[in-house]
Amino acid sequence: MKPINVGLLGIGTVGSGTFRVLQRNSEEISRRAGCAIRITMVADKDVARAKAIVGDTAQVTADALDVINNPQIDIVVELIGGYTIARELILKAIASGKHVVTANKALLALHGNEIFSAARARGVTVTFEAAVGGGIPIIKSLREGLTANRIEWIAGIINGTSNFILSEMRAKGAAFADVLQEAQRMGYAEADPTFDIEGVDAAHKLAIMAAIGFGIPVQFSKVHVEGIAKLAQEDIRYAEELGYRIKLLGIAKRKPGGFELRVHPTLIPARQLIANVEGVMNAILVKGDAVGQTMYYGAGAGAEPTASAVVADLVDVARMLTADPEHRVPHLAFQPDRLSDVPILPMGEVETSYYLRLRVADKAGVLADITRILADQGISIEALMQKEPHAGEEHVDIILLTHLTQEKKIDIAIQRIEALPVVSGNITRIRMESLQ
Ligand code: HSE
Repeated sequence: MKPINVGLLGIGTVGSGTFRVLQRNSEEISRRAGCAIRITMVADKDVARAKAIVGDTAQVTADALDVINNPQIDIVVELIGGYTIARELILKAIASGKHVVTANKALLALHGNEIFSAARARGVTVTFEAAVGGGIPIIKSLREGLTANRIEWIAGIINGTSNFILSEMRAKGAAFADVLQEAQRMGYAEADPTFDIEGVDAAHKLAIMAAIGFGIPVQFSKVHVEGIAKLAQEDIRYAEELGYRIKLLGIAKRKPGGFELRVHPTLIPARQLIANVEGVMNAILVKGDAVGQTMYYGAGAGAEPTASAVVADLVDVARMLTADPEHRVPHLAFQPDRLSDVPILPMGEVETSYYLRLRVADKAGVLADITRILADQGISIEALMQKEPHAGEEHVDIILLTHLTQEKKIDIAIQRIEALPVVSGNITRIRMESLQ
């Protein structure tokens, strides 16, 4: 088969990693793909830097359209990021009959349905293994490896920056802001780090995984998103004392009336493998009805781990170039005309258990008032811990763990408990998952 010519849009961290991996492993890659795969053209605003990376192996231009309009290019790799220019370029590449490989989770989370439908209409493919979990082949696993299963739930640590922050806060008692700076220095954080710490990046990735796992359209706007910025050091400590760790999880669950899609800090039992995933590493648990629980672990960011996923996509595209478009693996795993319109459940309908931390006056009857309010909502308490008052203080911390209940019930209970005169300030609520 003739060599495949690749045009790279953007040669930053992931782009240069992709170039290096393709060069270093070219022999093995061509044995796998059945043909040589080579980057023959690169578009980057910083032409000098791009030339320094690729030398004379590829033509360099400042204009991405030069790549898209070049009839010699078979596959366009979009590594620019963002929603606007990247969307336009991908749609143009598709329109000119190029296959596209992208790592752009934000773009696919918001415009994936439009992009996949344009690709189908033009008979080309868009692959995106690098968009979720960096080097972890989670898209391939969900789309192909688990294809026999009815996926019941997916739960993942899918943002390395926030996992790094939580790990450092727990292990070193470090302050949130200091750890964030370190993550940025190490190049893991998004250009806008609020996407990492506010859970948006994880929500982008969750929307993509849920679509593939459940056969639904990509629905980022329906993901409930909470980040880690408000987590207090004492919650991390109390969770530890109770045998739990706090992780920012992306959770997608199949429920009788619809699907739950949510990203939020979550208490998980410390003995669970996923609770021990530390630093910038990512891990995704997938529960299928036939296979049971499976777990995928690896580097969720970084130049060569992400390049590993980009190159895997290039090989996939190379292998399917001869396949009739009708018989290719569908973008979202399910045949496009067989996507389900089962709704995403509103947060009030979500069922989980809760960690509640309250500051209360240390006097008789307080606990009775609180437990009565919970009982009125049918909420059962699984564990309760009262901390010693700090010297000279009249208030104490109470930590309650509940059994499974509905979010709308806990909302009412929290509101009523906060209104008690003996309760000071707001209640901290963190959702819990046993991941069984
Ligand atoms: N900012 C992302 C993270 C990079 O921290 O995981 C990979 O998507």
